[in-house]
Amino acid sequence: MTGNTHIQPDSSLKPFASPDHLDPQLQSFLEEASTRLCEWLANAGKSGPLPSLSVMPEVAPSLNGLSKQSLLDDLQLVMEGAYQPSHPGALAHLDPPPLTASIVADLICAGLNNNLLAEELSPSLSRLERQLCQWFAERIGFSMQSGGVAASGGSLSNLMALVVARYHSGLNNDKEAVVLVSEDAHVCFAKAIRVMGLQNDALQKVATNQDGQISIELLQSQLNKLRSQSKKCFAIVATAGTTVRGAIDPLLQLADIAKKEGIWLHIDGAIGGIFAISQKTSPMLNGISKADSITLNPQKLLGITKTSSLLLVANKSNLTSTFSTGLPYIEPSSGEEAHGGEIGLQGTRAGEVLKLWLGLRQLGEVGIDQLLENSISRRIFFEEQLDPSKFNIISGPLHLISFTPKELNIKQSKSWSIETRQKLLDNKFMLSRPNHDARYYLKAVMGNPHTKKVHLIQLATLLNRSVGL
Ligand SMILES: Cc1ncc(COP(=O)(O)O)c(C=O)c1O
Repeated sequence: MTGNTHIQPDSSLKPFASPDHLDPQLQSFLEEASTRLCEWLANAGKSGPLPSLSVMPEVAPSLNGLSKQSLLDDLQLVMEGAYQPSHPGALAHLDPPPLTASIVADLICAGLNNNLLAEELSPSLSRLERQLCQWFAERIGFSMQSGGVAASGGSLSNLMALVVARYHSGLNNDKEAVVLVSEDAHVCFAKAIRVMGLQNDALQKVATNQDGQISIELLQSQLNKLRSQSKKCFAIVATAGTTVRGAIDPLLQLADIAKKEGIWLHIDGAIGGIFAISQKTSPMLNGISKADSITLNPQKLLGITKTSSLLLVANKSNLTSTFSTGLPYIEPSSGEEAHGGEIGLQGTRAGEVLKLWLGLRQLGEVGIDQLLENSISRRIFFEEQLDPSKFNIISGPLHLISFTPKELNIKQSKSWSIETRQKLLDNKFMLSRPNHDARYYLKAVMGNPHTKKVHLIQLATLLNRSVGL
């Protein structure tokens, strides 16, 4: 018997890959998962942006771990209930289809499982993040002193910017210190103020002009008022790309005022800042290089998989002076550079820079230019299809557009927005329904490269028919 004993190779999936040999089970697990993902992407056009029905898998771990097949089947259920950003009608938000190189880099990043907290836990990724932040900073016109840090989303980048601004201004202990933003600034600033232990009224909103840009006159008079009240302002926030219409605040004028007043200028470029990296579109952001800090969200238009946000600062020593505490349990980093965990709020964080870097390498300069320019062209084309006698259209120079029927009162516009959004969903178009200036709008974000003119014509036809019939 003994001579005949044939030891079967263990064909079960191991929870951890062997450190000694290639694991065929892991390889086939990855291959099968990749195939399912490719199929999910390939079927994007068939369904709509939103799933019709969604069955959830069991949530709790079973007593014994699941087989590869069962894990894949569980995953499939979640995939079938997922939002589908690759559908050409997915136009509701700032969530475009994922770049293929970014998908691959995300997978590799998970496999590497490095930690940007410290250089010894992410040697190559720490250097890559520094160098890529430097590249972005130089691209937008910052000097060699500049730098940056990646963060999990624009809200966090903006919060960090305000924390740095307050620290830099020496107003950390001033509970009355304020931040000036436009009334159309993103809601994350209200959150940031709370996290920073300030009262809600520390966020002072300045009205916008008819183009949705912060009013310079009102900002100046607000600053004068603060002076007369002996109150201090530790940051002026400019928005480069507002959430509903994509307006860009007058950056040059704001930079001049901030300089004259000695106040930190932060630009929330979560939507529009990315247009500054292309020579073709950067003139729209004239003045961006004069900011003290800038938030960029490559996840929003370039298709870098979530999350991908950067906080760039004109002087990188401001990041370390604000966030460095020392990491007594970690080896010092090489050279003069601080650890990733010493230049921002987050400690442990993934090497998100990998998918940003590989995505940019995949696109190349030409691909980046095209992605940015085409999104604006789609917005212009779509705007031309909408009947201007029926809609109040608000837009800016970017790829966002919102509109509401002219003839309806506030209540009627709400019903119109609900009914029309549903009708569009029935036709596989997903738009969002922002409440702006106390009135409901429908909003389209033209960041989806799969959306073609034929789709935009169909969408505009449905919309034009939704009013006045
Ligand atoms: C202008 C602006 N700033 C900040 C944010 C917040 O970014 P995130 O959702 O990545 O936290 C958004 C999100 O849409 C935004 O539109």
